[in-house]
Amino acid sequence: MTFILNEVDSIANNMLKELRDKSIQQDRMRFRQNVERLGSILAYEVSKKLSYHEEQVETPLGFSAINVLRHQPVLITVLRAGLPFFQGFQYFFDQADNGFIGAYRKESETNIAINLEYLAAPDLAGKHLILIDPMLATGKSVVKSVEALLTHGTPAYVHIAALVAAPEGIEYIKSKLHLPYSVYTCALDEKLNTQSYIVPGLGDAGDLCYGEKL
Ligand code: URA
Repeated sequence: MTFILNEVDSIANNMLKELRDKSIQQDRMRFRQNVERLGSILAYEVSKKLSYHEEQVETPLGFSAINVLRHQPVLITVLRAGLPFFQGFQYFFDQADNGFIGAYRKESETNIAINLEYLAAPDLAGKHLILIDPMLATGKSVVKSVEALLTHGTPAYVHIAALVAAPEGIEYIKSKLHLPYSVYTCALDEKLNTQSYIVPGLGDAGDLCYGEKL
């Protein structure tokens, strides 16, 4: 299943517009805040797919039955652009266990490979894992991250969360990921360019959040 937030018009479109606009996106604080806000909105959408159980709560005037989350998911973030997006998820899944992956692109003339250098994650066996990677471009960092995470147990379900996704990335995940999963994205864009950037996309999300790397 691929959930695409902007298939239905909402205030989220205003945030997405500001992320994409090449002059507004230069305001780093605003960029990070919009990424964070969209993270929370997507967390809410993912929450609709989790399991709930009934609890009674005593109010000052009586009792109320309410379905609350049965288990917190595990949030795993791909550094560095994932950080503000992750923060948005954390506001809603505020008791979740968290993990971090350091992955970067290694570009050659003909190929783009993903190097994975850091992984800190809790036990994932049987858990609902939310993999937070804002730019779903080739899909290689998602697949490589999930493969590496299997050393921490096999999750029951993987929810892949992106700000913007390319059709090529969605297809790559479909061909390589053999676990139950869904993709949640705020927008599904047109394609990748020759440098594997999403078009029209928004540019380099990590640089826009934190500045260019050397
Ligand atoms: N990473 C980015 O930051 N932007 C893209 O368009 C693709 C990958």
